[in-house]
Amino acid sequence: MKVVIGSEEEISAKIAEEFIKTINGKSHPVLGLATGTSPLKVYANLIKANHEGRVSFLGVTTFNLDEYVGLEGTHNQSYRYFMNENLFNHVDIDKSKTNVLLGVGDYVSFMEGYDQKIEEAGGIDIQILGIGSDGHIAFNEPGTPFDSLTHETALTEQTIKDNSRLFNDISEVPVRAVTMGLQSIMNARKIVLIATGANKAKAVYGLIKGPITEEMPCSILQRHPDVTVYVDEAAHSLCK
Ligand code: F6R
Repeated sequence: MKVVIGSEEEISAKIAEEFIKTINGKSHPVLGLATGTSPLKVYANLIKANHEGRVSFLGVTTFNLDEYVGLEGTHNQSYRYFMNENLFNHVDIDKSKTNVLLGVGDYVSFMEGYDQKIEEAGGIDIQILGIGSDGHIAFNEPGTPFDSLTHETALTEQTIKDNSRLFNDISEVPVRAVTMGLQSIMNARKIVLIATGANKAKAVYGLIKGPITEEMPCSILQRHPDVTVYVDEAAHSLCK
């Protein structure tokens, strides 16, 4: 596991360059994408690079980590909406090649076929992850089996509280989600994780220095051969 420390601007720019390298190095690259606040500046850098002609998304296929159960893709807090607004609508990507788990309708069948769909696309070349203050990656909360594939799960009180900042009221935050599992994530060839701010420090400690335990889901990444953790000083503060 490699660790890169810098300001949010610096680490976001570096991660964007890793994505550009991967995309430009293959005719049909497969990207694993995350939502939340953490990757926003990475996506802004990718949009800029696309507009400058440094990278094209025409051959790209994407798979997102997770989605809230109960939200339509048109809901402004759904992860499909987030991805359209923060990346897909602004680059030359073929939207039919962007995969986000469904939160309504026949979302269970879609979820059940997701890992196979990723495999059929060739597997994820580069996966970006954020991290929850409780150590979750995607919506794999503490206690999730390390061998989990894409599944439906209940969100913890902590995650509901953390995510309520984006909703009008905490009562509006969905309590269930569909998420790629820990094994689904480990199947990616390359993983980059971004964490900023002091509220991530405990989880980042568990990720880098802690024991490998299902109680700290991110700790499984210590077993992956190609992971780089990008953090700011505040998120890294407990690791010194
Ligand atoms: C989002 C996701 C989550 C977030 C995590 C951190 O697709 O999988 O695990 O990465 O909850 O969220 P932010 O970045 O908003 O702090």
